[in-house]
Amino acid sequence: MNRIYLDHAATTPLHSSVIEAINRSIREAWGNPSSLHFEGRTARKYREQAREQVAALLQCSPEEIYFTSSGSESDQWAIQGTISIVQKEKKQPRIIVGEIEHSAVRNICKKFQSWGFDVQWLKPDKWGRYQVDGLAQLLNSDTILVSLMYCNNEIGTIQEIEKLCELSHRVGALFHTDAVQALGKLPSPILYKPDLVSISAHKINGPKGVGALYIRSGIKFSPWIAEASQEKGMHAGTEAMPAIVGFGAACELWNTHQNEFQNHLRNIKSVFLKELQKNCEDYEIISPNENCSDTIVNIRFPELEAEALLLGFDLAGVAASAGSACASGALKPSPVLLSIGLSEKEANECIRFSFGPFLTEEEIIQAVQRITQIVNKQRKIQKGIG
Ligand SMILES: Cc1ncc(COP(=O)(O)O)c(C=O)c1O
Repeated sequence: MNRIYLDHAATTPLHSSVIEAINRSIREAWGNPSSLHFEGRTARKYREQAREQVAALLQCSPEEIYFTSSGSESDQWAIQGTISIVQKEKKQPRIIVGEIEHSAVRNICKKFQSWGFDVQWLKPDKWGRYQVDGLAQLLNSDTILVSLMYCNNEIGTIQEIEKLCELSHRVGALFHTDAVQALGKLPSPILYKPDLVSISAHKINGPKGVGALYIRSGIKFSPWIAEASQEKGMHAGTEAMPAIVGFGAACELWNTHQNEFQNHLRNIKSVFLKELQKNCEDYEIISPNENCSDTIVNIRFPELEAEALLLGFDLAGVAASAGSACASGALKPSPVLLSIGLSEKEANECIRFSFGPFLTEEEIIQAVQRITQIVNKQRKIQKGIG
């Protein structure tokens, strides 16, 4: 049976052009990019080409791209790098953060809050949207940073970054946006003039273990590692060259095919929803209808536990995901779904399907047939007529 992978928000397969670039870098760019000799210079050339490719997709200057080990690291650096610099200047610095941010952002903010920092949490509406008025109420002149994601990873909500960023700048706060799920799939966040942007390679057919932080030139920001000797003194650790080169190649791929990929993704998602409407009876779309990513849809199947459904889907060759897995691998209700007003029971009935540009319409139609069969079977079992 063919496998149909509908979990691209979790990670994506490496594209062949990325694999080729990685292989080339392993053969040719194995030197230490900080070394002065030929081997070092060669590695440096590869690294800088990757930086240009990432900057081209993000539409910024290569000097504003700093490589990290992941989107999570970029997120935490954005928060910590701002606090370390500005806390000396303000008595009680305030950070405003969204309730449905990625756990990397939420967790570091909780840590700072437990240390006595003034952290304010912005609540989204039922569609996962942060309201500009809500942000206005939390902003004050001590606010040093606002961190609100561009596109949510569980329900796909796209935020009005331009307005949220502009408002934050009015009180002199820096604006950070997590654009891990948006890179290549939405207009560049840089158009909206944020100060800090987190991105990651493995959501766009690049390798895992590499990300970047965009740091707008001219802002006050602290290195991630003290006395760092890489990344213009902002980061340390000899660079993971194959990962960085692979990230560059993935950005090149998405930059070259951006319109084609975006149109295809829009079509794939609408086929998925139409087929579901035709074939499946009782479900609720949790993702917003408007201003939602074409790569993500979150669906609730009332009275059916997501965990059992996912196992059924997997056996039928369809990969999707739900909630957040804890250490034991069991599913906990997603804090994002609880924050938009679902009960624990409802949150445990939700499944995220997420799409990539290499899925075909036929695969989507086949996937929905399999999903519907499993859902109908589980309903019969639940009603005791299976
Ligand atoms: C919105 C968002 N931010 C950050 C991350 C973390 O990225 P990484 O897996 O590269 O640490 C993810 C990954 O799922 C994400 O979806």
